Amino acid sequence: MKLADYKATLSFSNGSPAVDMPIYQGNIGPDVIDIRKLYAQTGKFTYDPGFLSTAACQSTITYIDGDKGELLYRGYPIEQLATNCDFLETCHLLLYGDLPDAAKKKDFTSRVTNHTMVNEQMQFFLRGFRRDAHPMAIMTGLVGALSAFYHDSTDVHNAEHRDISAIRLIAKMPTLVAMAYKYSVGQPFIYPKNDLSYAGNFMHMMFATPCEEYKVNPVIERAMDRIFILHADHEQNASTSTVRLCGSSGTNPFAAIAAGVACLWGPAHGGANEACLEMLEDIQRMGGVSKVGEFMEKVKDKNSGVKLMGFGHRVYKNYDPRAKLMQETCNEVLTALGLENDPLFKLAKQLEKIALEDDYFVQRKLYPNVDFYSGIVQRAIGIPVKLFTGIFALARTVGWIAQLNEMIGDPEYKIGRPRQLFTGSVKRDVMPIAKR
Ligand code: SDX
Repeated sequence: MKLADYKATLSFSNGSPAVDMPIYQGNIGPDVIDIRKLYAQTGKFTYDPGFLSTAACQSTITYIDGDKGELLYRGYPIEQLATNCDFLETCHLLLYGDLPDAAKKKDFTSRVTNHTMVNEQMQFFLRGFRRDAHPMAIMTGLVGALSAFYHDSTDVHNAEHRDISAIRLIAKMPTLVAMAYKYSVGQPFIYPKNDLSYAGNFMHMMFATPCEEYKVNPVIERAMDRIFILHADHEQNASTSTVRLCGSSGTNPFAAIAAGVACLWGPAHGGANEACLEMLEDIQRMGGVSKVGEFMEKVKDKNSGVKLMGFGHRVYKNYDPRAKLMQETCNEVLTALGLENDPLFKLAKQLEKIALEDDYFVQRKLYPNVDFYSGIVQRAIGIPVKLFTGIFALARTVGWIAQLNEMIGDPEYKIGRPRQLFTGSVKRDVMPIAKR
C-alpha cells in the first residue's frame, strides 16, 4: 500500500485536540484511513460492529467492485476464469498469485491428486454421528479432526507446513464431503480415483457404488468444476474473516479452516443456497409462480422476518457476476439433463424478474447473489439440499487458505483483538445471598 498525498484530520467539537491520520491507497478500490494510533492519541475507539466501513487487512488476492458487479481473482475477471480455466488452475492462482503454465499445472494437479485420500481412522469419526446429522455439523468436526493427523506440519509459521497443509486441505475436502454424503445415505465410502479430474473424482466419490461402473457425465463434471471456481474466494467475507481471526492466534491451518466451515454454515452466508432452495420449494408447494406476489409482500413486510434468500449482498449493489454465470450453468445442466422445464428454475427466474422490477428491491439495490441459482443446478446434478453448503465450503477452502497464508506471511501481522463500547453494569459489590 502507498501513502496518499493527503491526510485525514479528526477534530472534536468539545475542544479536544485534533489528530491527523495518514491515508493509504491500494491499486484499486477505496483509500483507507490508518487509525492504528487513534486510541493512543485520543483514548477513543472507532465503532463499526458489522465492519461496514472497516478494512481489516490489506490483501492482493481478490477484489470486488460492488457498484460495477465486478469480481477479480488476482486481477483476472471471474467471467474469464470460469470460461477459460479449471478449478485447480484457479487454486494455483489464488495460492501462488499466478495462473500455472502447463508444467506447473501438471505438477500442482499431481500434488493435489496424491493427497486426496484421508487417514483410514477418519471414517470412524462419522460413526459417532446420527445418519441424519447435518453435513455441515459433520464437516465442522471432520476438518478440525484433520489436525490430529498431521503433527509434522501444523506449524503455521513454517512456509513448507503452510504449503503442504494447503495441498492436503484442497485435496481432502471433496473426500470428506463425499464421505458425509455416503454416511447419510448408508452407502459405503468410495475411495478417490487418481485418473479422474478434481471435479470428476468428487462426482465419482459421491455417486459411484461398489456394485457397478460409474461414468462421470462431462457436462456435470464441467458444471461442478465451474461451481467450485465461482465459490473459491470473495475478499474478507464473514467466513474468511473468521479464518483470519482464528489463524491470527497461531493455531494450525486445519483448526482455522474448521472455524471457517462453522461460520459459512449460517443462512445469512453460505447456508443461503440451502435456504434459497427450501424457499423456492415452499413457494412451489403453495402454488408456484401464482403465489410469488403474495410471497414478495411478506418479504417487504419487515415484521414477517421473511427474506428473499439468495438476494442482497453487503458489497454487491449490482448484479453478483457469479449469479449470472451460475444461471448460465443452470441452463446448460438442465438442458443437458432434459430438465429445461424444471419448475423451480422457471420460478426462480420469475422471482428474479419481479424482484428486479420492484421498488423495494431497486431502492435497496438487492440483486441475486451467488446462492440464488446454485441450489437449482446442484439439485439437478443430484446433490441433496443439505449438502449445498458443504460444497460451498469445499470450494471456498482454497480462498480461506490463501487468505490465511497471506496474513501469516505478513511480518507485520498481529493477533486480532477488537475492543468494545461497554454499556453494561459499572463496578458493584457482591451481596451475600441472603441480601440479594
Ligand atoms: C454470501 O460477504 C460475502 O462476500 C458473502 C458471499 C461470499 O462469497 O463469501 O458472497 C456469500 O454469503 C452471499 C449472501 C447470501 N445470503 C443471502 O442470500 C441471505 C439473504 N440476504 C440477506 O440476509 C442480506 O442481503 C445479506 C446478509 C447478504 C447482506 O446484509 P447487509 O449487508 O447487512 O444488508 P442489510 O441486512 O442491512 O440490508 C439492507 C436492507 C435492509 O432493509 P432496510 O432495513 O434498509 O429497510 O435490505 C434489506 C434489509 O432488510 N434486505 C433484504 C434482503 N437483503 C437485505 N430484504 C429482503 N430480502 C433480502 N434477501
